[in-house]
Amino acid sequence: MLIGKPELIRSSEITSETAYRNRRQFMKKAVGLAAFSTIPFSPLSWALADYDIPDDLPRYKGPQWLQPKITAAIRNQDFSSGEALAPYYHAITHNNFYEFGTDKRDPVRYAQQFRTDPWKVEISGEVVKPGNYNLEDILAPHALEDRVYRLRCVEAWSMVIPWLGFPLSELIKRFEPTSKAKYVLFETILDKEQLPEQRSSFGTIDWPYVEGLRIDEAMHPLTLMTVGMYGNALPPQNGAPLRLVVPWKYGFKSIKSVVRIHFTETMPLTSWNKTAPDEYGFYANVNPLVDHPRWSQATERRLPSPLLSPNIIDTQPFNGYAEQVASMYRGLDLKQWF
Ligand code: MTE
Repeated sequence: MLIGKPELIRSSEITSETAYRNRRQFMKKAVGLAAFSTIPFSPLSWALADYDIPDDLPRYKGPQWLQPKITAAIRNQDFSSGEALAPYYHAITHNNFYEFGTDKRDPVRYAQQFRTDPWKVEISGEVVKPGNYNLEDILAPHALEDRVYRLRCVEAWSMVIPWLGFPLSELIKRFEPTSKAKYVLFETILDKEQLPEQRSSFGTIDWPYVEGLRIDEAMHPLTLMTVGMYGNALPPQNGAPLRLVVPWKYGFKSIKSVVRIHFTETMPLTSWNKTAPDEYGFYANVNPLVDHPRWSQATERRLPSPLLSPNIIDTQPFNGYAEQVASMYRGLDLKQWF
């Protein structure tokens, strides 16, 4: 996002024999890393794991206590659009998680040792029941759903991903927001020891990464708190152990590795909005009619997108979820509030 133009198509997206072999080599290395990490993966299949995951790629199991929930997850077909899912390989190796580096491959390279259990989440601000909760307790009453959503990055690439999660609204209701709770702020972990970019003196983001939603957006049934993808736990590079997914907004709103959920009366200052206010707004609704100052948002590169025949498709208003969400923005000038 700090780059001058949308990230270029990588040679690894051409499925040549060499690329295929390189991929296998690369992932063998990643699997080796994961074997020594605190995040276990398993080659075993799971109840929901009928996704096409090649045997040589790691499946992230997450902590023991999460496994029964994953196994019991229910596939919610309401959100399937019939579009092809991103191959698992792309979803776990083409990432934005700037805390691990700005290259798309940095998160899978450097996140494998990231400690995601035990994990605490602080609930604070305008709520009747604030506190510092164990993730296990946070998740206890929630059944997981498997939902397929489009993820549209502001950099003009997109993927279709099956997430495992539950509506954020269910979580919010438990903590009983007061009438002053107009916005919800989310914060990623701040941990200089584990997150190399947070140690860097040259980064542009003022850590920790912060995102926010209006309370009605947070309560919308599409807004998902996720703990998994492709029938497995979230890989660390995708935001383990707890990540927000807001499918009608640019991907930067879908904050990873959340440790704090704060309810406030005023619109929070969010990381990208603070970093480059002319380029990234608070709302960040996917909008083909409002270009990024440095590139068009009218189309997107749907991954996988081979170098020689790029898979370019039209971007849809609200990323194709207009029917469900457009009414929340009635009367709002979407060009001004981009
Ligand atoms: N969350 C944190 N904490 N740090 C980040 O750099 N990048 C965002 C979002 N969440 C980011 C983050 C951006 S720009 C995108 S497009 C999505 O994560 C990418 O999610 P993915 O890597 O699972 O595809």
